[in-house]
Amino acid sequence: MPDIDSVLQENRSFEPSEAFRAAARVGDRAEYDRMYRESIDDPDAFWGRAARELPWIKPFDEVLDWSEAPVAKWFGGGQLNASAVCLDQHLTTDRRDKVAILWEGEPGDVRSFTYAEAHAEVCRLANVLKARGVGKGDRVAIYMPMIPELAFFVLACARIGAIHSVIFGGFSANSIRDRVLDGGCSAVITADGGWRRGKVLPLKAVVDKALEGVGGVHTVFVVKRTGNEIAWDDARDVDALELAKTASVECAPEPMESEDTLFLLYTSGSTGKPKGIRHTTGGYMVGTYLTTKYVFDLREDDVYWCTADVGWITGHSYIVYGPLANGATVVMYEGAPNEPHPGRFWELIEKHRVTILYTAPTAIRAFMRWGDEHVTKFDRSSLRLLGSVGEPINPEAWMWYRNVVGEERCPIVDTWWQTETGGIMLTPLPGVVATKPGSATLPFFGVDAAVIDEEGNELGANLGGLLAIKRPWPAMLRGIWGDDERYRETYWSKFDGEYYFPGDGARRDEDGFFWIMGRVDDVLNVSGHRLSTMEIESALVSHAAVVEAAVVPRPDELTGEAICAFVSIGPGAVASDELAEQLREHVATEIGKLARPAEIRFADALPKTRSGKIMRRLLRDIASGREIAGDTTTLEDFAVLDRLRSDAE
Ligand code: WT7
Repeated sequence: MPDIDSVLQENRSFEPSEAFRAAARVGDRAEYDRMYRESIDDPDAFWGRAARELPWIKPFDEVLDWSEAPVAKWFGGGQLNASAVCLDQHLTTDRRDKVAILWEGEPGDVRSFTYAEAHAEVCRLANVLKARGVGKGDRVAIYMPMIPELAFFVLACARIGAIHSVIFGGFSANSIRDRVLDGGCSAVITADGGWRRGKVLPLKAVVDKALEGVGGVHTVFVVKRTGNEIAWDDARDVDALELAKTASVECAPEPMESEDTLFLLYTSGSTGKPKGIRHTTGGYMVGTYLTTKYVFDLREDDVYWCTADVGWITGHSYIVYGPLANGATVVMYEGAPNEPHPGRFWELIEKHRVTILYTAPTAIRAFMRWGDEHVTKFDRSSLRLLGSVGEPINPEAWMWYRNVVGEERCPIVDTWWQTETGGIMLTPLPGVVATKPGSATLPFFGVDAAVIDEEGNELGANLGGLLAIKRPWPAMLRGIWGDDERYRETYWSKFDGEYYFPGDGARRDEDGFFWIMGRVDDVLNVSGHRLSTMEIESALVSHAAVVEAAVVPRPDELTGEAICAFVSIGPGAVASDELAEQLREHVATEIGKLARPAEIRFADALPKTRSGKIMRRLLRDIASGREIAGDTTTLEDFAVLDRLRSDAE
């Protein structure tokens, strides 16, 4: 596998402290090994027991039915409701008056909700949805800032059996429209705006634009957060909080079949069109419940903070469903990490006595750059466990996270997983696994992972290959909305149904630890967010000046990867800084600011093989190998590459 050379050699290893181990849920290596063995040798027993920790409305008859592989059925015959798992079950316990959500807005406003209060809010909003005719099986798009109502509306949808499709607040009107149309959404939930870096993000205006000419949406529920001026369509728009005031605080949870769809979440693949990843109720709840409990070693008095946005899978699984199913106190923060100062995260941790922090390598690297003093001036003694997710964490950032943030006291769980996997797949259990900087270590319970070559043969220690998962797991995706063939094709066809193929390269070291080496397909990972090169290319080509575009990643110290676009332009167009800026803005309008290329490089023509394929590997090398050209007007001259081209063929 010439593409995947493992170069990283990291030999440091960190045992959990005796104090952490002694208090951990799993603190004994032999017990851990026994649990893992059981989860693989007798998954029915293992998952059946885990599932019975949740409050089922009707018990399941069967743990797993894999007869229609690769579409798994978990906990068949069972009925449950995800919002009741997250809320109602706690109301008859001491957790009733425990804080469920502790929220802080960017301007510093704080709101907190006990489990009883969160339950009432969710019921009110569920009744608001119902009153406008939203019901079981309807798809509802949610485009919101990180405010408590985002979590409440997600749970309100789950409560009435409506399928939520959350769209991250950084996506453009076009991206919203595509998702609303693909999912056949009949309602949209949004806010007037949200706070980001001291400014109002005008979310309602973006939704208005997205819905121009879209016929199927009967209601837009608007939460007033920022009070900015917004357009109002009396027939379509309703003030959600105004209606909630008079709505009942009771709403019976809809009994859902275990395999009923809970939500769609769109993610990019190696084609131009995002996929609506479909997750169902029972397996997803069991998976997120159990991973949260063990990976974060949750205790009753923890104050748990995952800094992701609910617009991504991390927020679905580890802000809303997993932690609330466990009855945790969840911190939620609306704004930017450096607003109004670069120590905001650490200030929040000091103020709310956060014990568990789950964040992304790109944020860790930003804090490293901003300087230790912004971290160390706040008291982090409440922290006991740190987590990382979204992209490979470089050992330098890992060590900084451990030493500076965690004061060498807190174990780090580097968790590898995907939108598709629903929950964490590779991770240390913090009480028993000695961690190595940069490794996601070992498979979670029930996960049978391997590193294989292109033929599907398992590779020996330290050989780079493809990460593969051998059997179904409860929180796995069940398909792609409206395109089940694409589900089979993308994830299961590479190895004839024998393995789930996530699209990542990896190696396994002599201790069996997994080291993720990044994507092997045309997927970019910018700041832990997944973007498709083809999607960005088609956005570029939709601009009148562009004839052809090739998008490749180049390594970036802060964002992991940065987007570099090679563009050839038509005869009427002139390569200039202005055009480059226009193209960057064009991509931002088409997809969202998160997809805006860091660099545009103009070329006469793109280098191609004789069969006409763009030589991306070459472009990747060029993009990575050179300093950013200050002057974008220079045309790349690929004529000099002719010789290389013939070498490559
Ligand atoms: C891709 C999934 C999982 C939620 C956030 C991203 C990369 C994710 C890690 C990690 C190395 C990681 C992979 C994966 N990734 N976590 N701990 N170490 N790589 O979800 O947008 O579905 O992206 O993110 O490449 O395939 P996503």
